[in-house]
Amino acid sequence: MRSAVDQEIRALIQKHGCITFAQFMQACLYSPHGGFYSSRGNRISAHFGTSPTSHPVFGALIARQLEQMWHLLGDPPVFHVLEVGSGDGALAQSIVHACWRMAPRLAQALYYVAADYEPRWLLSPDHTFDWDNGTGDGMSPATASAEGAQLNGPPFSATAWAEGAQLNGRPSPSRRDALLGVQRVKTEGLRAFRNVVGCILCNELIDNFPVHRFAIQGGRVKEVFVTSAGGNLTEVLDEPSSPRIAERLTSLGLFPATASAEGAQLNGPPFPATAWAEGAQLNGRPSLPEGYRGEVNLAMEDWTGQLARALDRGFILTIDYGQLAPDLYSLQNNQGTLVCYHRHVVSSDPYQHIGQQDITCQVDFTSLMRLGDRHGLATVGYTLQRQFLTNLGFSSYLDALQTQGLSAARTALSRMAMMTLVDPEEYGDFKVLAQAKGHGLGLELLGFVRQ
Ligand SMILES: C[S@@+](CC[C@H](N)C(=O)[O-])C[C@H]1O[C@@H](n2cnc3c(N)ncnc32)[C@H](O)[C@@H]1O
Repeated sequence: MRSAVDQEIRALIQKHGCITFAQFMQACLYSPHGGFYSSRGNRISAHFGTSPTSHPVFGALIARQLEQMWHLLGDPPVFHVLEVGSGDGALAQSIVHACWRMAPRLAQALYYVAADYEPRWLLSPDHTFDWDNGTGDGMSPATASAEGAQLNGPPFSATAWAEGAQLNGRPSPSRRDALLGVQRVKTEGLRAFRNVVGCILCNELIDNFPVHRFAIQGGRVKEVFVTSAGGNLTEVLDEPSSPRIAERLTSLGLFPATASAEGAQLNGPPFPATAWAEGAQLNGRPSLPEGYRGEVNLAMEDWTGQLARALDRGFILTIDYGQLAPDLYSLQNNQGTLVCYHRHVVSSDPYQHIGQQDITCQVDFTSLMRLGDRHGLATVGYTLQRQFLTNLGFSSYLDALQTQGLSAARTALSRMAMMTLVDPEEYGDFKVLAQAKGHGLGLELLGFVRQ
């Protein structure tokens, strides 16, 4: 029997003849009728791991970066951290907890919002790893203190928060999370938020934005649509549903300008737009060859606008897998970078396990930086996750493991989990992008110091 989301997709196809891949992906992941992320039964860690679910040291190191950002903003009495795509809440828990342990003044000022389509608060078994803040001052009570927490209150209304509170003061205690002071907000993106002074943060969010798929055929950009043939979902190529697909490729120097792309000028000046993108030499490289297939993330455009409107002053920290455009759209990736995860099995087939598997795509960081530039969000840092964490003191946490008095087995387990954060085969080659809005925030951030 077909799932509700599968039926929804087929009904859409029946009505329209075919749908864009982005519409298909949107339904698979976010349909209220059983999309992967809308189904409460789909605990994320049952299908794949992420850095924060691997080890809380990830959050502790980000807390160090947040502390510097707070200082750069002049130690405001209320420092907003708005985490979008907070998933099971692992990063929120580890960051807030680390702030209380390492930076109590910041913890006092911290106003942490965990926002998601479906904000959950699940204690991951992975979080039973004991860890320390690097100063050897004892075990983290993270697991113990979080256990038994009564986090069942009504979800905080994003609208009330954004419109009523205007982010000027601290929320009343009754509206705050009983344990850690985290607001959980059910929301799509950032539309409801304004007046953020602090940091907007996301880990593995943008790779989940629905993408348009394209193919180069007959020397032209065609789009991949999803239709049904003989009861099976299948792909067809046709004229793009939006000129923005070709415009994006043209702006990246990947495809010659077409009449529509030339006129629209939607994508700004030719890349590179910022010093951070130095070394990316797209101009002059041959355009994508016949048969090349790939993806374009148009949703990033709206997302960047939302970021700019929500953030008054401060930083945006984006952590995800992806590359600068020249590497992302290389010949090596000539069938695109779309990947699916179902119960820790990786595949490239989005048409199986509909609503039961994650669908992701690598992030084009070049376009993210350029879109930011156009919205007044300056790129102030771009590096590998392993470099970012190393700069923030990863090795001191690793060393501290030896002084915890843990059993040899637990030390080894914890060490293994920590090492995934910097291992290039795991999360180490993820990218970290910092953008800033506001005067005087261009100073070098600790996580991005060039070695
Ligand atoms: C791959 S999970 C990452 C979860 C978490 N950040 C982590 O690293 O463990 C992506 C999360 O982003 C959420 N999400 C995707 N698009 C969103 C949007 N536009 N607004 C809010 N949440 C979104 C999904 O519901 C999901 O929980």
